[in-house]
Parts: sequence; structure tokens; C-alpha cells
Amino acid sequence: MTATAEQRATVDIRARMEAWRETIDAALERFLPPAKAIPAPLHEAMRYSVFAGGKRLRPALALAACEATGGVAGDVLAAACALECIHTYSLIHDDLPAMDDDDFRRGKPSCHKAYGEATAILAGDGLLTFAFELVAAKSPPDLAAALVREIAEAAGTTGMVGGQVLDLQAERDGDKSILVESIHAWKTAALIRASVKCGGIAARAPAGTIAALGAYGTALGLAFQIVDDCLDVESSTSTLGKTAGKDAEAQKVTYPSVYGLERARQMAADAGAQARAALTPLGARKETLAALVGFVLERTT
Ligand code: IPE
Ligand code: IPE
Ligand code: MG
Ligand code: MG
Ligand code: MG
Repeated sequence: MTATAEQRATVDIRARMEAWRETIDAALERFLPPAKAIPAPLHEAMRYSVFAGGKRLRPALALAACEATGGVAGDVLAAACALECIHTYSLIHDDLPAMDDDDFRRGKPSCHKAYGEATAILAGDGLLTFAFELVAAKSPPDLAAALVREIAEAAGTTGMVGGQVLDLQAERDGDKSILVESIHAWKTAALIRASVKCGGIAARAPAGTIAALGAYGTALGLAFQIVDDCLDVESSTSTLGKTAGKDAEAQKVTYPSVYGLERARQMAADAGAQARAALTPLGARKETLAALVGFVLERTT
């Protein structure tokens, strides 16, 4: 690919991300309980964190995968928003003093800093529970059970929640035998894989296509978390919108801490190449998902 074509591809994926973000934000605005609905402090805190300014990568992946497999965006919109609610809940809890203890998130005070710990814990619980209500109520009825199952497995004890436990164990016990790849596969890649697969499920894609989307999501999710680890070392709090340098301070088991920054960057690129390769069965329809790999590898926030 020439430099100009690469630039064009980058510009295009940024424009697509912007369009997806608008669609997702409008849908979340419609779906989430109003801030003033009783109990108001809880609904306010939920909305505060959801609308603090995330990239919306997971719902964008669900929309992109649905489109890439010939589906209708409206069929995956509820699941896409549910994935963002679950992701946001994971961030609220991740920032709590008992976990990573971070005062900033998405460029603003973290939820517990703005609303107190009890409300932040409950806002996370509220977002998690609401996510499943949303998928069940607003997805095509014949797809709701499959979407709920996919998301629940990814968010649960052998997915995001389990990965957060491994992350904390590795940090607290200094148990480096817990491989950093397993931590990342569970805490981050599981939800990213589910986001992509939900797009295929909503498009009623054949099992082989959904398996290819799953392989893409797993590799993309690993690349995403390696880049997150690298940015924690390389970037600043103001650019990231969350406290930089936190991983080293907490002695987290990350790719840069295990392999060094340069090798970690190379491993992210390798995982990105694996993600692109997994898209081969999609033929010409793979282009947007392939461009999203570049977005993940080149991101600065
Ligand atoms: C941050 O995710 C947490 C990780 C899993 C690394 P994002 O970088 O997608 O955060 P937002 O949604 O854009 O704030
Ligand atoms: C968090 O990983 C993954 C989640 C499941 C929330 P990190 O702890 O590295 O995420 P940041 O850097 O705080 O966003
Ligand atoms: Mg963490
Ligand atoms: Mg953290
Ligand atoms: Mg991080």
C-alpha cells in the first residue's frame, strides 16, 4: 500500500468511527434511563460515565461486523449499546480504590471521585444489569438469547471479570506465572471478541463466518490491550484522559514490563496482522474491519 493510500484508509476509518460514534451516542441517549429518574444520583452517575467521552470501539466493532456480514445495523444496535454499558461499568469498577485506584477517566474525575464510592459501585451494577435488559427488550426476538449468551460469557468469570481477577492477582502476588497473554485475553479481548461476534450473530451469518469474526476479535483485542499498556508508558495523563504511568507504579504485569516497550509494540503489530489474516473468509467485505486494525494500532488515546 502506498503512503497516500494508507493515509486515505486512515482518514476513512476515522470518518467511519465518527459516524458510528454519533449513531451510538444517540441510541444510548434514547435507551438509558433519564438522569432525573428516581433514584436520580444513580442514573446521573451512570450517564456521567457513559457520556464522559469514550471511543466507542466495542459498539463500533459490532456495527462494522454486522455490516461486513450483510446485516442490518438496527438489529445489532441494542447489543452494541449494551456492550458499551458493560465496558463503561468495567471502567468504573477498574478505577475504584480497591482496584486500580485511578482518579481520572475519559478526561474527567472518575465516577467514584464525582459521586462517591458507593454510588460508583452501584452505577457499575446498574449499567451491567441494564445492558441485559436492553438486549432482551430491544433486539430482534429470535436473536436476543444468542446475543445475551455471547455478551454474558465474555463479561463473566472466564471473561472480563475473571481477567480483572488475574490482573489483580498478578499485581498483588507478583505471580508472573500467570501469563500476561491470559490476563489480556480475558480482561480485554473477550469483550472485544464478543462485540465483533454480536455483529455476525445479528446478521445471521453462518457459523464459519462467526468463527472467523471471533478469531479476528481475539487477536484485535490482544493488540488493543498491548497498545493500552504501551500508551501507559509512552503517553501523558492529559492525552490519555486517565493517569499515565500507573501500571509501573502498581507493578502490573503488562507487555512492556514483561517484554520491554519495543518488543511489546512489535507484538501488538503481530497480533494486528493475525487479526487481518483472520478476515480472509470475508473476502472483499473485510475492508472496514481490516482498517479498524490500523485504528487500534495507531491510536493515541
Ligand atoms: C480502556 O478501554 C480499558 C481497556 C480495556 C484497555 P478504551 O481505551 O476503549 O476506553 P474508552 O472507552 O475509549 O474510554
Ligand atoms: C482494564 O485494563 C481492563 C478492563 C476490563 C477495564 P486497564 O486497567 O489497563 O485499563 P485502563 O488503563 O485503566 O483503562
Ligand atoms: Mg485494571
Ligand atoms: Mg486501570
Ligand atoms: Mg491500562
